[in-house]
Amino acid sequence: LYIDWDILMAEKNGYDHFMLKEIEEQPRAYRDTLRGRIDEDSQSITLPDMMMNPEHIREIKHIQIVACGTAYHAACVGKSIIERMTRIPVEIDVASEYRYRQPIIQEHTLVIAVSQSGETADTLAAIREAKLSGARVLAITNVVGSSVAREADHLLMTWAGPEIAVASTKAYTSQLIAFYLLALYIGQSIGSMDLAARAQLLTQIKELPDQVQNMLGHMTQIEQIAEHIAGYHDLYFIGRGLDYTIAMEASLKLKEISYIHSEAYPAGELKHGSLALIEDGTPVIALATQEVVLEKTISNIREVKARGAYVIGVAFEGNMELAQAADEVIYVPRTDALLAPAIAIIPLQLLAYYAALARGNDVDKPRNLAKSVTVE
Ligand code: G6P
Repeated sequence: LYIDWDILMAEKNGYDHFMLKEIEEQPRAYRDTLRGRIDEDSQSITLPDMMMNPEHIREIKHIQIVACGTAYHAACVGKSIIERMTRIPVEIDVASEYRYRQPIIQEHTLVIAVSQSGETADTLAAIREAKLSGARVLAITNVVGSSVAREADHLLMTWAGPEIAVASTKAYTSQLIAFYLLALYIGQSIGSMDLAARAQLLTQIKELPDQVQNMLGHMTQIEQIAEHIAGYHDLYFIGRGLDYTIAMEASLKLKEISYIHSEAYPAGELKHGSLALIEDGTPVIALATQEVVLEKTISNIREVKARGAYVIGVAFEGNMELAQAADEVIYVPRTDALLAPAIAIIPLQLLAYYAALARGNDVDKPRNLAKSVTVE
């Protein structure tokens, strides 16, 4: 008997690609990142490993988040949720830009560096810049003992497990979970959130792993959509608020591995220029999970449809208005609007995966890219 076997196949655990395996590991990554960090009795967050005491937290007046690539997109979500839950102003920077813009680092600024690998040169350089100016630095990373973990003053680990595919999936969503925990933790420390709202959000956070797991079992529609879009050169993602942050990450995922040109736009901004790009049949993926801006997003969908776009909506189950406005809709399980990125990105990760497959690309090792970039 001859068995054709290699170590990589063994680690892929029967999957054709690491990326698909890692997408499907997300429920486990969510559970591991949440584990031991929610105190059920007091309905509060405990982050003892972060070693930031309540006094440090209460001192924070400004937050700056630095990161690259997908981690930067997690930072975009982080900004939104920290500001919403704590009312502390948050700035975000692509790490390679931070140092050179002479950032204003005031007293009581917390700098948060987000990095899956913990080895990205630009992110490390940003940390050093921040420390030189006296800021306290918190790292959110997936690798214990990495350079970022060692150089930061405080550490909030994501427990996604090793991520092999160049396109980041489970590391990104684990970073989102870390931001939810952090925002709630700061919120409870400074008293910016009432107890009932916190308890309700916690309940929904705890439901995320099961919701994602169920959703992953019902995603056959995505393969057909991927085959449809694989024939196009250009594609646009639109959304407002947190939907825009999901759009940015979805667009990067698609570009990285399918090599289809795509852009993410705030839906309300299209009319100021980009609408000119829409042609007959141009696929537009419209994120519409944020119900406070749903009517506006739908009117933006009508604008692109009137110019010939083929609109694929992404919304929470039960959103019938979108079904009427779009050509087809990807429904995801309903959760709190703030948690939408941790759910709505998942079908779009799969969309990028299947589009790359349809185009015959090397999904796990896309051209020109590296998993960890240690040069500036
Ligand atoms: C590379 C990878 C991206 C990643 C970025 C930041 O460009 O290809 O997937 O998002 O680095 O990596 P980090 O390890 O700092 O999160």
